[in-house]
Amino acid sequence: MIKYHVQSATVIKNEQLSTDTFLLTLRSGSWMFGQKLIFQPGQFVLLGLPGSNEAAFSICSSSQAGKKWQVAIRRVGNLTDKLVQLRSGEKVYWRGPFGHGWPMDQLKGQNLLLIGGGCGFIPLRGILQETKIIHYPGQIKIFYGCRNKDNSLFKDEYPKWQNKQKSFHLITEQEAPQGLVTDLLIKEHFQHDALAWIVGPPIMIRETVKLLVARGLTFSNIFFSLERRMCCGVGLCQHCAINKVYVCQDGPVFSGLDWQTNPHLI
Ligand SMILES: Cc1cc2nc3c(=O)[nH]c(=O)nc-3n(C[C@H](O)[C@H](O)[C@H](O)COP(=O)(O)OP(=O)(O)OC[C@H]3O[C@@H](n4cnc5c(N)ncnc54)[C@H](O)[C@@H]3O)c2cc1C
Ligand code: FES
Repeated sequence: MIKYHVQSATVIKNEQLSTDTFLLTLRSGSWMFGQKLIFQPGQFVLLGLPGSNEAAFSICSSSQAGKKWQVAIRRVGNLTDKLVQLRSGEKVYWRGPFGHGWPMDQLKGQNLLLIGGGCGFIPLRGILQETKIIHYPGQIKIFYGCRNKDNSLFKDEYPKWQNKQKSFHLITEQEAPQGLVTDLLIKEHFQHDALAWIVGPPIMIRETVKLLVARGLTFSNIFFSLERRMCCGVGLCQHCAINKVYVCQDGPVFSGLDWQTNPHLI
């Protein structure tokens, strides 16, 4: 069945995360009878406002969180400018969830590398809220590269990601320690069976995959999430097509093996 069913959600809270990014906490259905959003970590919704079109946004809260869910919106254009100004009680319209999420079933205790660039860090924050990740027996190393510290997202949560099980590494392009996320990775030692999940601009994904493979990780253990301009979200309009692959349906999460068979992916 084609999921072209538009539903409403109410804004519960709107918090500013950085100079241009805001975290919306939403609740589907009515105030009294909220409805649980069932999704896999890594899936996205199409959010819209009447007269302002729709766009794709990653769900960045835990899939076990019940009736409330969150999206972090970076103000870049017409729709996002309106979304970031919504106040609690106002309505937003959504379709989804769409696509294939992260391969949670592959998490068997190996080390996990979460690597984010810019607002690509948004979906990784959702993974970090999953119960399976909070109680994960392996080591989780988080690497985040962004423009500057004012622009870094989810600052209040960094202390939670520094403990025996997790380590958090931030690098910015404008302040010390200055550099790109790949500069952080060069200094690290990785186990060869580690899993790596990457989100960011295509050039960052490409360079990161190449570096990890050169350091001994296998293509089959590397996954990345792509952002392409989307319209229908259900495999009909071709807006997100890369050769025969539809990012809205076949992705947004792909593996290194997919890149080997379709070099135009990134
Ligand atoms: C799977 C997925 C997940 C995403 N998750 C998030 C998220 O969690 N948070 C978030 O903030 N964003 C996310 N995005 C990106 C978001 O969907 C876009 O930024 C969206 O276009 C914003 O809509 P807008 O109307 O505000 O801006 P737009 O008017 O669409 O403009 C956005 C930017 O795209 C450029 N642009 C406009 N038209 C085109 C075109 N035809 N081709 C190329 N570039 C163009 C503009 O110059 C501008 O820089 C995600 C995208 C995808 C595909
Ligand atoms: S967004 Fe229409 S085919 Fe993917």
